[in-house]
Amino acid sequence: MSRVSADYHDGVSYVAAGAVPAPVLSIVTPSFNERDNLRPLVRAISAAMGAVSWELIVVDDDSPDRTWREALLLASEGWPVRCIRRIGRRGLSSAVVEGAMSASGEFVAVIDADMQHDEKLLVDMLRIIQTTDAELVVASRYVEGGAIGTWDQRRARISTFATICARMLIGKTMKDPMSGFFMTRRAVFDDVVSDLSQQGYKILLDLLTAARRPLRLVEIPYVFRERVAGESKLDAIVVAEYLLLLIEKFSRGLLPPRFILFSMVGGLGLVVHLSTLQVLELFSPSFIEAQTIATLVAMTFNFLLNNLTTYRSERLRGSQALVGYVIFCATCSLGAIANLGVANFVIGHSVSWAFAGAAGAIMSAVFNFSLSTRFVWGRATRQRQARARSAQDKADRLQAVGSAQG
Ligand code: GDD
Ligand code: MN
Repeated sequence: MSRVSADYHDGVSYVAAGAVPAPVLSIVTPSFNERDNLRPLVRAISAAMGAVSWELIVVDDDSPDRTWREALLLASEGWPVRCIRRIGRRGLSSAVVEGAMSASGEFVAVIDADMQHDEKLLVDMLRIIQTTDAELVVASRYVEGGAIGTWDQRRARISTFATICARMLIGKTMKDPMSGFFMTRRAVFDDVVSDLSQQGYKILLDLLTAARRPLRLVEIPYVFRERVAGESKLDAIVVAEYLLLLIEKFSRGLLPPRFILFSMVGGLGLVVHLSTLQVLELFSPSFIEAQTIATLVAMTFNFLLNNLTTYRSERLRGSQALVGYVIFCATCSLGAIANLGVANFVIGHSVSWAFAGAAGAIMSAVFNFSLSTRFVWGRATRQRQARARSAQDKADRLQAVGSAQG
């Protein structure tokens, strides 16, 4: 399938001999401990795709079973497989997003690595998206002809409940917003990428809710198969992440999962603070001494726990963690001043102490969260840059379309 392509630059003609054109379809598969499933998956996709050119992008979170090594091996054997090995990261959705961003095909499919999704559907999905105005084709377990296969009752009930919640968010027209098997245009991903939550498992739901207008979609049935090897990674944390994602979407982004986690850590910090005070009282220091020590202990606890949970995907290590810790303490001190200021203002309007206290606490939580996110873990800056970049991409695309149309 090789061809010769040439480009002209600075008066010189460059010729890339043997260059292979980009595939039409990029298939992204998130993987964690799926080593023994990868070869069957690649073979099955290859058998199903016929004449369609494709690539498989394995996005592996540094699996202990070395799934990534199997992906590299397959690539070295000549299969159209690429591997993104992420270090110190976890998460199905964010893995899919990174895979999609590295896709070179015009169309992007997402499929699980464990063979539970029927790869034979890929060709139909591609045909639909190429020949109709659909922007998204979803393989669905809940349209006629589809089924959840051999799931036990408990898992089936969880799925039904999760699906009902999701359909409250996006409207009843869609039957399986929780599907992990779908195809879209790369451009659709590009448009919404900076608004995706990327939390947890539900990348399709994330995509549907982040899109600024309803996407034109088609659902086609499939039967969820048995896993070939290994086990599901759906655990309590995944369920918790789903609930946090729902809260974020229902509150229209006002309560992002991180803010909820940050506040929960703050609540635990208060418990640590009060317990420290209790212990210190035994040594009868002055209240101010005890209060200072307890504050430091609580801030340290909050920093460490936030670094491990709330901000685990941008966890600070080594000297970065030390700098972050100092900035975090400074932020919390400013937050405390903001807390007092607001509480003092509110109490001036003759409300109860509890109300004024709560207003102050909420103020400092919001304050600490926004400053920490920006200055300690630096995510806000990166997100703003990403948003600016995707706006620029869009402008470029519009311009390209405009000049193509003369
Ligand atoms: N990179 C990465 N990181 N991949 C992950 C992670 C992670 O933290 N967690 C899971 N995966 C990969 C798995 O290796 C697998 O390829 C795929 O994501 C799905 O994970 P499973 O653990 O097998 O999920 P499931 O079978 O219980 O549920 C799947 O199918 C349902 C029906 O389509 C998921 O895709 C659900 O979202 C979906 O509703
Ligand atoms: Mn699975």
